Amino acid sequence: MHKSVMCEEVLDLLNPKKGQTILDCTVGGGGHASMILERILPGRLIGLDQDEEALSVAKDLLSKFDSASYSLIHENYRNIDNIFSRDNIDKVDGVLFDLGISSFQLDNARRGFSIKGDGPLDMRMDKRSSLTAYDLVNRMRVDEIENILRSFGEERYARRIARSIGEIRKRTPIATTGQLREIVERSTPAKYKRYKIHPATRTFLALRIAVNHELEHLEYALEIAIKHLAVGGRICVISFHSLEDRIAKNEFRRFKQSKILKVLTKKPLRPSHRETIENPRSRSAKLRAAEKIKSEDEPENII
Ligand SMILES: C[S@@+](CC[C@H](N)C(=O)[O-])C[C@H]1O[C@@H](n2cnc3c(N)ncnc32)[C@H](O)[C@@H]1O
Repeated sequence: MHKSVMCEEVLDLLNPKKGQTILDCTVGGGGHASMILERILPGRLIGLDQDEEALSVAKDLLSKFDSASYSLIHENYRNIDNIFSRDNIDKVDGVLFDLGISSFQLDNARRGFSIKGDGPLDMRMDKRSSLTAYDLVNRMRVDEIENILRSFGEERYARRIARSIGEIRKRTPIATTGQLREIVERSTPAKYKRYKIHPATRTFLALRIAVNHELEHLEYALEIAIKHLAVGGRICVISFHSLEDRIAKNEFRRFKQSKILKVLTKKPLRPSHRETIENPRSRSAKLRAAEKIKSEDEPENII
């Protein structure tokens, strides 16, 4: 069962109110969306997800609400501008990004995200896109693979792993998550296997970020989302990776400097101890929030 992360903290910081319109950029299984809808009805929730399977889970969960109060849209959040102009939406009162993947994506071996089980090396959140982890692992130059593992996965054995991939694929294509997991296990030192996380965790994470262009999309989408936030509206970002958190922090800082945002979380909020016990996935979560205090078109007060 998928558990939404930091629910109370999100409600507290997003502060959704009756009658408002809220944009949930990563609707996933619909957990946060459902909580938000309870607060805003008769308002409206716009839920985006690039994963069709996620949207069907959300659809089931949200079916208890009046269908006119929400829309679930199969889109990448980088396309907020297009979605809004198509649906005649200008401003929203709140925006939520709950990044990464959900546990039902991770737990389904067929999707290729998981180091457990065996499945095709896919890792696409959006099945409409053509690039898969198979393409990266089998077709990309070895030094580029190394670079991805190092920069997105902070993998200290990036060179060794990339070289092993290069050797093995000369003989046979690397087609499954099981094959990749074994290659990483064999090319990293024995002591790596005694660590808390599996030796292939960072490799899988790095490939997933690259396949889905996660960091580029986030940076681009945050700026657009802030543009569509009404003055007084709030934005919350939950991240699970230091590079994502850095993007959120820097974007908030940039808009703070131009006096468009007030940052509500000096340091990111972390889940409670209780939550980390009940839901281990929440352990690495960081929540940042900001409030829009001035519109982009308003001139700065110079006196
Ligand atoms: C952690 S889950 C969200 C869980 C959700 N908040 C809940 O309570 O159930 C993240 C979701 O974001 C989606 N996602 C990731 N990147 C996306 C993007 N660029 N555009 C749209 N959806 C994205 C994933 O497909 C996944 O379903």
